[in-house]
Amino acid sequence: MEPLVTGTGDGERARTLHGHAGLGRPSDPLGRLAAEFDDAQDVWRSATGLVCVANPDAARAVMGNRHAVVTETSDFYRTRHGVFGPRGAQIEIGRASRALMSRHLHEHRSRLPQLVAHHLASGSVWPDAGNLLVFAHLRDVLLHPGAPPALHEVLEHIVTRAVLAGARQRHTAVSRLRFRRRAFAALHDEVAARQGERGRGGGVGEPRDLLDVVLDGCGPAARAADLVEVYLSFLFATVGSIGFALGWSVLVLGTHAEQPPARTDWVVREALRLWPVAWLFARTPSREQELGGMRVTPKDRLAVCTYLVHRHPAHWEKPDAFIPQRWADAVPDGEYLPFGYGPHTCAGAVVTMRLLTDLVALLTRDWQVSVTHDGAGPQIGPALAPPRFTVALSRRDHDLGGG
Ligand code: HEM
Repeated sequence: MEPLVTGTGDGERARTLHGHAGLGRPSDPLGRLAAEFDDAQDVWRSATGLVCVANPDAARAVMGNRHAVVTETSDFYRTRHGVFGPRGAQIEIGRASRALMSRHLHEHRSRLPQLVAHHLASGSVWPDAGNLLVFAHLRDVLLHPGAPPALHEVLEHIVTRAVLAGARQRHTAVSRLRFRRRAFAALHDEVAARQGERGRGGGVGEPRDLLDVVLDGCGPAARAADLVEVYLSFLFATVGSIGFALGWSVLVLGTHAEQPPARTDWVVREALRLWPVAWLFARTPSREQELGGMRVTPKDRLAVCTYLVHRHPAHWEKPDAFIPQRWADAVPDGEYLPFGYGPHTCAGAVVTMRLLTDLVALLTRDWQVSVTHDGAGPQIGPALAPPRFTVALSRRDHDLGGG
C-alpha cells in the first residue's frame, strides 16, 4: 500500500504548534484531518475519501488486528515485495534488536554527558541536532566499527540525505534517485558478503550490529534486497524517530519554561502524546464491517491518526495542553498509542523511552536550556518531525547552587 503521506514536507508546515485548532490549513494532511475531526463522530469519511479513525477503540482494533479486521499488520516489516516474514523471524529480529540496543545503552551511558556537550554546547539547530546526537550515540549499533569505512560513509549520507526532516527536499529528484541506487547497492553488497560468510560456516556469534540482527533473524533464502529494507527501517526508527521524539521533548520543555519542573519520563511521555512521531497508519479493511459506527469495505482506505486519538477531548482533559503531571495519575493506556498497539507494538519502545529519558534528564540537570522558535508547526511527512528551532545551552553550576 502507498504511504498516505510522502516526504518530510518542509513546504507543508502547519501554522501553530499548540493545539490542532490552528492546524487547519487545507494543504497539509494533518491540518486537514484535524479540521475535519468531530469528537461526536470520530470515525469518518474525509473529503479526501479516506476513512479516518480517531476513536481509540477503533484505532486499537485496527492496529492490534486481533480479529483480522485489516489486511496489513505492522508497517515496520513492509518491503516493496510485500511483508518480510515469517512472523517468527520478525519476532526474533525485534527481540535481538532490543537486546543489542539495551546492551549498548547500558555500556555507553556514561558517554552521554560528553556527547551532549560536544554536540550541543555551542548552540544547535533542531530537529537535525537531535537526530545527529542520536546517530552519534547509536552509530556502533547501526554499523559495527569494523565494517568497511566506505559503508560508514554511505550510512552518514543516508542520514543527511533521507532521515533528517526535510532532507529529501534539499536534493533534486534525479540526485535522490542516483543516491538511493548507490546507497542501496552498497548495503546490498554488505548483506551479500555477510550472507556469504554465514554460508561458509563463519557464524559471527553475538550480533555486532543491527545488520547482523536482521541477517541472523531470517533463513539463508531471504532476499538480500528485503534485508536491506528491514535494516533501513531500523535506521529510520533509531536516528529518525528517536531523534524527532527528542526534538519534541526539548521543544515542549523550552516553550513551557514557566511550568514547574516535572519528572523527565512524564515530559517525554507527554511530548509523545502531543506529538506522536508515528502519527498516521494506513490500513485496508479485510471485509465489509462496522468500525466505530461506520460501514467500511475492502475498497476503503483507513487512516488511523494517533495524533487525534491522543488529543481526543472525550478521553483527555485539556487535550491540547502540555501537562506532564497528568502522568502522575493512572492514565488510560488504551488511548495512548505512540508505539502502536497489540502484537506488533514497537519492539524498541522500552529502550527508546530509556534513552529519551536519560537524554532529557541530562540536558535539564546540567544545562539551562533556552529555545528559540518562530511558532512554526510540525514538519509533516511519514513521521511527525518538529519544526526548525534553535537551542542555546548554558551550564548550570551545581557547586554554587547548593548554598
Ligand atoms: C521514538 C521512537 C520510535 C517510535 C515512535 C516507534 C514507533 C513504532 C510503531 C508505532 C510501531 C508499530 C507499527 C505498526 O503497527 O504499523 C513500531 C514497530 C516496530 N518498531 Fe518502533 N518506534 C521507535 C523506535 C524503535 C526502535 C529504536 C526500534 C529498534 C531497536 C524499533 C523497532 C521496531 C520494530 C522491530 C517494530 C515491529 C514490531 C512488530 O511488528 O513485531 N522501534 N514502532
